[in-house]
Amino acid sequence: MISRVHRPGTPPSLGCGEAGRPVATATACPENFFGILGLLMHDNIESHLVEKRVFKPPRDFSRKARIKSLGQYRRMYRESIRQPAKFWAREASELVWRPRWKKVLEWKAPFAKWFVGGKLNISENCLDRHLSGPRRNKAAIIWEGEPGDRRTLTYQQLHHEVCRFANVLKRNNIRNGDRVIIYLPNIPEAAIAMLACARIGAVHSVVFGGFSSDSIRDRIIDSGAIALVTADGAYRRGGIVPLKRNVDDALRDGTSIKRVIVFRRAGNDIHMEEGRDVWWHRELEYVDANCRATPLDSEHPLYLLYTSGSTGKPKGILHTTGGYLVGVYSTMKYIFDIRDEDIFWCTADVGWVTGHSYIVYGPLANGATVVMYEGAPNWPEPDRFWKIIEEYRVNILYTAPTAIRAFIRWGDEWVAKHDLSSLRLLGTVGEPINPEAWMWYHKNIGGSRCPIVDTWWQTETGTILITPSPGAIPTKPGSATLPFFGVDPAVVDENGREVGPNIGGKLIIRRPWPAMLRTIYGDKARYRQQYWSEFKGNYLTGDGARRDEDGYFWIVGRIDDVLNVAGHRLGTSEIESALVSHPRVAEAAVVPRPDELKGQGVVAFVTLKTGVNATRDLKEELRDHVGVHIGRIAKPDEVRFAEALPKTRSGKIMRRLLKEIASGAKVTGDTTTLEDFSVLGKLAESEE
Ligand code: PRX
Repeated sequence: MISRVHRPGTPPSLGCGEAGRPVATATACPENFFGILGLLMHDNIESHLVEKRVFKPPRDFSRKARIKSLGQYRRMYRESIRQPAKFWAREASELVWRPRWKKVLEWKAPFAKWFVGGKLNISENCLDRHLSGPRRNKAAIIWEGEPGDRRTLTYQQLHHEVCRFANVLKRNNIRNGDRVIIYLPNIPEAAIAMLACARIGAVHSVVFGGFSSDSIRDRIIDSGAIALVTADGAYRRGGIVPLKRNVDDALRDGTSIKRVIVFRRAGNDIHMEEGRDVWWHRELEYVDANCRATPLDSEHPLYLLYTSGSTGKPKGILHTTGGYLVGVYSTMKYIFDIRDEDIFWCTADVGWVTGHSYIVYGPLANGATVVMYEGAPNWPEPDRFWKIIEEYRVNILYTAPTAIRAFIRWGDEWVAKHDLSSLRLLGTVGEPINPEAWMWYHKNIGGSRCPIVDTWWQTETGTILITPSPGAIPTKPGSATLPFFGVDPAVVDENGREVGPNIGGKLIIRRPWPAMLRTIYGDKARYRQQYWSEFKGNYLTGDGARRDEDGYFWIVGRIDDVLNVAGHRLGTSEIESALVSHPRVAEAAVVPRPDELKGQGVVAFVTLKTGVNATRDLKEELRDHVGVHIGRIAKPDEVRFAEALPKTRSGKIMRRLLKEIASGAKVTGDTTTLEDFSVLGKLAESEE
């Protein structure tokens, strides 16, 4: 049971770095993050420094919530684990199937089929299903552009636009099963394009608008996409990101793309390639709004979303239709406790999985009203988010720890200017939230009255897997708390044995769940090897974690060579490849270092080719080079030139040492396998 309980509003008893008080858990203190990760992962040392604050759900919230108590949560959880078929069938039967499934799950590890024999269409479930009742004229999307323009689309209007665009896709020879790249700003057309693809059975692959032409090209090649939907430009901090130009660059040497559909957003001058490029608005002139949703097999591919892995090439994570829909529908319903009158705002970009599941599919499947915002949180001033919440009376806010840390830095006065009393629930996602940021969010944004759901999940998981149930589960700042229904996570040691309370280990999931990835596109072997081979039959998350004495999960971070920058996964090897593609670079190693704002910063150790001068300008050039080849988000915060990189005798770069050096720590770990000791001293000196 929970040991100590805090009513919202009462002062905390323990805090990270509070003067004169014991320091709370290592996960609480970013500066200890890597040290403790090392302890947890390598030595299985018990951590006694634990965060003790506990916040019970406010009584009023629990009374009205779907899940009202820990007891009710536990009963439902037990049922979902003991009788998963019964549990998920009940959830699925709230949706429209044509026809219904025959079997809930077929599990031939590591391949799952959910709702076998069932057919459905996710766009029908998100749109048509709401048109026969009072939701017909309810706002589905309330959108605000960065320059301040606004649009609201009711369910009926959204349905109309989706049907028309689906007809545009058909008119352009895009058919069931074809892959379509979507490279758009955070505008309603992104959701319209996704839903239109889903309506006709085309498989969308959204590429985040911050990615560069090389990234688009890689994704086109891997997916074999035949069409691409983009815009002329996107607004970002008052400037215009030239999306169409990036697309032109990506397509320059020829690809599988036959058609590019361009939405006019920013009005910037662009080139339209005769025979390949068409305008969205012109195409609409040729179509009507009649487009029946195609019933698709439950396992029909819905989308591909590329994410970083430790071995370089981004992985095309494949999600399918039935299980994914049931997963996003249920998680949205229970975790955000969504009600018809709620205004829900997930601040992610649709280009990330969070946008797919909790801007588009989850909320719309529930008939909810979502807010969508195109631009930067500090444009034109650092109170843009709070203005939006006040303006639209947002009730539920779902954002990322990295954004919260930025708000803290920009100052409380920006928050204080606005009335945030409409908020009733807060959420976070993307990385561990440090307890002080949690406390700030709780107090300054939630007015000490809103529960916070710290939701743990991944691109691969499709839906939230570990999270508080806001009316039922007492929260502890920094912990994602307990598993969602049907999810069976465990923390295990190197041999796959579950470890005891507060001992660190690897986080695995021991049974399939409806929205799980089905494979890595075109690479079943990698899917099996990467996720299911280390502990056979169990899903390896790649995260380190511990469970405390109450069974609460504390996620420590990634254990592979993947960074988490501002809540987004970046593969170190991808950045290294980009660096090495520069003509002056011989070798590069990229490691994370703790970063107050972004969670992790990127530090690149670079060895130059013989005879090349190590200049400041070259450092800048290399940073830009990564920006051009991958995207702004991957730009190293620091480039350090090194004569040589520390390597094992077998030639492997010792990233652990580089991590310690990059974080300014003394190298303390085992160096016995290091090939050349003198390298270490030189590296430490390499900082200017
Ligand atoms: O390390 C975990 C971290 O983000 C990773 C997943 O990244 P991505 O696939 O890009 O998806 C991000 C949005 C779902 C995880 O392996 N992560 C995500 N949420 C949390 C988290 N770490 C701690 N606490 C969280 N709530």
